[in-house]
Amino acid sequence: MKNKSKTTGGKLPIKKPSSARDKANIKKNVGRSPPKPNPQKEVKKKDNKKIKTIETEKTKNIPIKKPNASNVKKEEKEDKEKLDKEKELLSSLQKANKDFIKVFVRFRPLNELENELLSDNCGWEIPKYISDTQIGIYSTKEVKDSNADIPSNLIFKYDKIFTSESQQSQIYENVGKRIVGDVMEGYNGTIFAYGQSGSGKTYTMYGPDIFDDIYKGIIPRIVEDIFNYVEKADDNVDFQFKLSVLEIYKEVMYDLLTQQSSDIKIQENPETGIVIEGLSEVYLSSIDEFFEYVDLSQSNRKVAETKLNHNSSRSHCILILEVTQSFKKEKLIKKGTLNLVDLAGSEKV
Ligand SMILES: Nc1ncnc2c1ncn2[C@@H]1O[C@H](COP(=O)(O)OP(=O)(O)O)[C@@H](O)[C@H]1O
Ligand SMILES: [Mg+2]
Repeated sequence: MKNKSKTTGGKLPIKKPSSARDKANIKKNVGRSPPKPNPQKEVKKKDNKKIKTIETEKTKNIPIKKPNASNVKKEEKEDKEKLDKEKELLSSLQKANKDFIKVFVRFRPLNELENELLSDNCGWEIPKYISDTQIGIYSTKEVKDSNADIPSNLIFKYDKIFTSESQQSQIYENVGKRIVGDVMEGYNGTIFAYGQSGSGKTYTMYGPDIFDDIYKGIIPRIVEDIFNYVEKADDNVDFQFKLSVLEIYKEVMYDLLTQQSSDIKIQENPETGIVIEGLSEVYLSSIDEFFEYVDLSQSNRKVAETKLNHNSSRSHCILILEVTQSFKKEKLIKKGTLNLVDLAGSEKV
């Protein structure tokens, strides 16, 4: 592959590279004995009382200041400035959220049962596409007549709505593509699919066939784009890709690359943030390797389903791809992590 020269690391056996080191660091911190008392500090402690009395003496002689009009004005001005700054910060955070967190909705085609229910005019009508950004839910005449408390229509707004005719490529262009640029800029990004079982989460994230040009979902398209980026990048940049795949079922974590479930722990490290200890990582040197590991993780998910006696619709599947770029001339490193999440069904069971 052309891009091989631009990647570092190459294919390595599945290993646990950082976790052992992190474990050692954490242990070091946890086990460290409390600092020995510093003699200077002890002196201060002894003098405390004395200092206190001196302070009391001093304060005794200080005349109580009467509030003065100019002081009050100054304080009011400071309060107002503080409030304005807080408001400014809040609105910039809201703006950032608006820019960085996007919510999309995708309708999938109705299945046979749903079509039958619909023709029976059962209960509430299904949500309706109103526009590119709006969905409406209207109650049927029967429901309205039987219960006046039920609102007759509800409108919900989203960043973009896709109809049941929307193609996988269209979803990727609108939902996935922008995150590739962000990760290459060194930001972290997450895409997760939320909805009840059967709503189309796996179809959207993986697609019914990850190798099919038309039907492949967001995940294969994102990773293909990342590897295309590598091919176009200049020789000054070395790339490294690290992949982990994790399943969470009832708060138990399961490594989908090694089929291990023990020893995986979430730790909060003050330097590196949240770290999943014990989760294996593999280095990728080509897109083909990525597909091999996705395939492996999917079949391991099926094994886990049988072995741990669960249904995959009740488990979360998280694919973590870390992209590191080393700019040789500038001696600069950019690192971005992508979390691609196929969540468990949102229904209550
Ligand atoms: N946009 C779509 N177009 C055609 N079929 C779809 C679409 N979304 C989902 N499906 C089909 O609906 C069924 C349930 O989808 P799936 O992705 O498995 O749901 P979930 O992962 O949310 O449980 C599957 O048979 C899938 O092929
Ligand atoms: Mg699914």
